[in-house]
Amino acid sequence: MTQYKIGIVGLGVMGQNLALNMVSKGFSTAGFDLDTGKNQAAAAKFAGKEAATADSLAGLVASLEPPRRILVMVPAGSPVDSVIHDLKPHLQKDDIVIDGGNSFFQDTDRRGKDLESAGVRFIGMGVSGGEEGALHGPALMPGGQEEAYRHVEPILDAIAAKVNGEPCCGYIGKGGAGHYVKMVHNGIEYAIMQLICEAYDLMKTGLGMTAGEMQKVFVQWNQTDMNSYLLEITTAVLGKTDPETGKPIVELILDRAGQKGTGKWTSQNALDLGVAIPTINAALEGRILSAVKNERVAASKILKGPGRDFHGDREALLENLRDALKLATFTAYAQGFSLMREASKEYGYGLHFDEIAKIWRGGCIIRARILDKMRGAFARQADLVNLMTAQEFAPMVNDLNGRLRSIAAVALGLGVPALGICASLGYIDSYRSERMPQNLLQAQRDYFGAHTYERVDKPGKFHTEWMD
Ligand code: 6PG
Repeated sequence: MTQYKIGIVGLGVMGQNLALNMVSKGFSTAGFDLDTGKNQAAAAKFAGKEAATADSLAGLVASLEPPRRILVMVPAGSPVDSVIHDLKPHLQKDDIVIDGGNSFFQDTDRRGKDLESAGVRFIGMGVSGGEEGALHGPALMPGGQEEAYRHVEPILDAIAAKVNGEPCCGYIGKGGAGHYVKMVHNGIEYAIMQLICEAYDLMKTGLGMTAGEMQKVFVQWNQTDMNSYLLEITTAVLGKTDPETGKPIVELILDRAGQKGTGKWTSQNALDLGVAIPTINAALEGRILSAVKNERVAASKILKGPGRDFHGDREALLENLRDALKLATFTAYAQGFSLMREASKEYGYGLHFDEIAKIWRGGCIIRARILDKMRGAFARQADLVNLMTAQEFAPMVNDLNGRLRSIAAVALGLGVPALGICASLGYIDSYRSERMPQNLLQAQRDYFGAHTYERVDKPGKFHTEWMD
């Protein structure tokens, strides 16, 4: 009986494409899906290759080389628990289960402990890059038992995207660290997408530009050091015409965003850890506000604002907008890394931020040229508190914050919503403030609740009888 190198449970497009990627790198793969339709579709794609589908979970496990390596590619949440539950009776000591879905990191911790108590090793792995990435090279963020990771490392390195020959894969940390880092990746993804949408809105609403004109602008921007995957797909989206109407498809798409939860988890966790990630939060709120379309339509008939046409220097505005987008996007990464820094301490993950920046340089949705420099900054200074203050980036923050400020001012003046742009600017301005006005807030708390305050001139806790 053929002994396959790796098995995949869940043969949706992601599972199928990862299997095809593995086979193309010389790793024979067996797959199984509870859905016979998906099993058959995968079997047709696997024909003639070193890949096969099994007709049961038991059959899949039996066809694998020990210790078995089984990648689970099913939707996050209860389907993962149910696959693990069904797999468990067929597994032996030292077998390795890898969850490649967008699982919540605390679920991964729980599942890891449960499987480890049965002698089975578990890896929670963030996979980014969508369907194309799965086939041609995703970014991979595996966490869990390190020695288990070493058993799958050759396969993961082989299938991952490469940048200058280096795989976009590396061991992230113990327990749910891999899924944690993927969650933050998605939070940053939300923020960058929101910021690009706000730039688009300023061009479309403020400057009355067509999709074709905006596409040209984004193409130019993407040829600079701002180069990124999300800018690249934005140019492609803006260039796509609807075959039925001949109009740009983007103008026909309803402005109501969906979401599957990873961005929300990032914000929830940042609140739990007490880390400020205002641009990511703003992106989430942007999606939430977009979703109440009916309310907005009704409110638009009642609530008034300024005229939204821009009458100043258009070329100057576009230049400022490019730099504002560059800086605001950078702050989203800075926020994400500062959140991971706190999480690494809180959860004992031992994250290596240069390694994470290295992985994110290719294959994933937030891949961008600037990540190489971030990798360098963290390699030089592993304990860097915030990317904004690094010698590699502080000059850029100082040079461009005036432009971000002027774009925020234009958006505020026109009444074009700019939740993300304003949040990024507020983040920079707060973070660079030696003194914030929360002295007054402390006095207010002490006034109504005797919560006490500290003083600038002597140590200790103090209370004032404010009403005397
Ligand atoms: C990726 C993406 C991927 C998925 C998002 C979409 O890295 O490949 O992040 O994981 O497309 O989860 O998330 P929303 O549906 O919440 O936008």
